[in-house]
Amino acid sequence: MAFLSYHQDMTAPQFVPFTDRYLPTQPPEAAAQAFCQVMQKRRSVRMFADRPVSRATIEWLVRAAHSAPSGANKQPWRFVCVQDPAIKARIREGAEAEEREFYTRRAPAQWLADLAPLGTDEHKEFLTIAPWLIIVFQMVHLDDGGQVYYLKESVGIACGLLLAAAHHAGLATLTHTPSPMGFLNEILGRPRHERPFLLIPVGHPAEHCEVPALALQRRPLDDVMKVL
Ligand SMILES: Cc1cc2nc3c(=O)[nH]c(=O)nc-3n(C[C@H](O)[C@H](O)[C@H](O)COP(=O)(O)O)c2cc1C
Repeated sequence: MAFLSYHQDMTAPQFVPFTDRYLPTQPPEAAAQAFCQVMQKRRSVRMFADRPVSRATIEWLVRAAHSAPSGANKQPWRFVCVQDPAIKARIREGAEAEEREFYTRRAPAQWLADLAPLGTDEHKEFLTIAPWLIIVFQMVHLDDGGQVYYLKESVGIACGLLLAAAHHAGLATLTHTPSPMGFLNEILGRPRHERPFLLIPVGHPAEHCEVPALALQRRPLDDVMKVL
């Protein structure tokens, strides 16, 4: 048997037929419209039910996120999935401490004005009520010290897929960013090369869940899309 040298092994591309393709039952336009109509029903939820969600469900969501493209396929992410009530309580405590600082001291006036219609404040009950908290970390290098590329783009796309997968499964999420998020490394025992990116509660919305009216607004398509 002929062995590839280390150098050849690292650099020579190998290709396989792309046969395992996703083929929707509808043609592209109808399929795109149907998906859009599902996604337009996603909302950031801050009022969760304590109804459980299985670990297997969360694993599927993470697998979906992990299917994301990434710079040089380095997959520079880690998803820490927390269901332990004691850990969730510590995360809530840490987040509320940062958010208290944010809302009372750190936030510039314009930011507070922009947040006002959303009705958010330093109280984060959802962090102990939602059955799962997924803390997404971006890896500034791999565990073995290997380089990563387009870190924020890669992890951002993975998070987008995670939100879409949860929504598709009938679950609610919030993209929460209690800044700075360094306290999450300490509570979750994560190393320094992992930086918290998003804190995502996942679960079912509370029965009488409300969302801010502002969240329903979107800029018109001809403002966000230019066709040349
Ligand atoms: C990067 C990012 C950070 C966010 N941080 C917070 C946050 O810390 N707390 C919060 O309540 N919502 C947060 N949001 C949610 C936004 O307020 C929400 O996406 C926006 O109001 C639109 O509402 P929708 O998600 O229901 O469409 C964040 C969203 C993004 C994308």
